[in-house]
Amino acid sequence: METKTTLIWTVDKNNPDQNVIDRAAQIIKNGGLVAFPTETVYGLGANGLDGTAVAGIYRAKGRPSDNPLILHVADFAMAEALSAGLPPVAGMLMDKFWPGPLTLVVPRANHIPGQVTGGLDTVGIRMPSHPVALALIKAAGVPIAAPSANRSGRPSPTRAAHVQADLQGRIDAILDGGPTGVGLESTVLDVSGEQPVILRPGGVTYEQLADLLPRVTIDPSILGKKLSRDQAPRSPGMKYTHYAPAAPLTLFEGEPARVVQAIARRAAEQLARGSRVGILAFEENAPYYPRGAVILTMGQQKNPATAANMLFALLRQFDRLKVEVILAEGMEPKGIGLAIMNRLRRAAGEIVQL
Ligand code: TXA
Ligand code: MG
Repeated sequence: METKTTLIWTVDKNNPDQNVIDRAAQIIKNGGLVAFPTETVYGLGANGLDGTAVAGIYRAKGRPSDNPLILHVADFAMAEALSAGLPPVAGMLMDKFWPGPLTLVVPRANHIPGQVTGGLDTVGIRMPSHPVALALIKAAGVPIAAPSANRSGRPSPTRAAHVQADLQGRIDAILDGGPTGVGLESTVLDVSGEQPVILRPGGVTYEQLADLLPRVTIDPSILGKKLSRDQAPRSPGMKYTHYAPAAPLTLFEGEPARVVQAIARRAAEQLARGSRVGILAFEENAPYYPRGAVILTMGQQKNPATAANMLFALLRQFDRLKVEVILAEGMEPKGIGLAIMNRLRRAAGEIVQL
């Protein structure tokens, strides 16, 4: 791929400079690619109504072209215009959770380019709550198609430096608005069928949705194993390897005390063999692991939101520290823990059930 100059602009999260936003919006209007912060992860944006521009996203990321993109909107009217008819439940969910980390899969309007929807008859739409994202969409005046701004298969970026590491020279600009808040992607909820189905757990939890939608279900693949390429999941994104750091990751699940014991034992074995071992741990467990291991902590067990916020950055840090294996503590798949466990399972080459 041809190398281009990637402009990097630092913006104040709460008070973005309108001149900078306008320049970034101009790039979008001209068919270019701009990475920008959202409250979940950084997105790689293009004009969502311009099929050629959207094709550029797939090229820059190395993303399979049948994996559809989310359209990001700045107001409700923009969302309505993208759907062939919003299901009644969609309005209620937008009122409650927008702007915020919830993507709604709805019947698509005909004028949306096929490059966005990957050929499906539905489209994913969300209104992010990050002031920089909202300002950019408003200034561009079009819905912005944006996947996470990582090279395909890598952990999603939660800082501008992650975007730079993956996409420098492949995109036109990066808006650096500092670290993102949630740290994991939006929840993808399909409301196009009879019953609402969570296709990807994320920033809005199952429990929050079930409060409003007693019939909401969770797609069975969410806590299952990776799907092989010839299985057909409802969300095409679910069949690809994701979030993977360079070193193979083994996820340990079960009762916390047994998890700690099993990781400590495995780490000691691998250290004895001369391996460079990384351990992803909750703070309170770090003292139980052998000296010599590279231990990165994700806050305390009682604060899963902190683990969510740090997860992708820590996976990338293991890469920079050149560990050869990663041993990771699992957690209860409750609240935001469901999304964390989904990402860890997708990143894992091996899962140990205790
Ligand atoms: O938080 C987020 O959602 C971030 C930020 C940038 O907004 N975006 C993001 O996009 O994570 P991406 O492309 O990395 O993930 C979008 C997911 C994929 O798993 C895709 O398959 C699914 O949403 N998806 C998109 N449109 C869909 C549709 N019409 N039907 C089913 N799944 C869809
Ligand atoms: Mg992604």
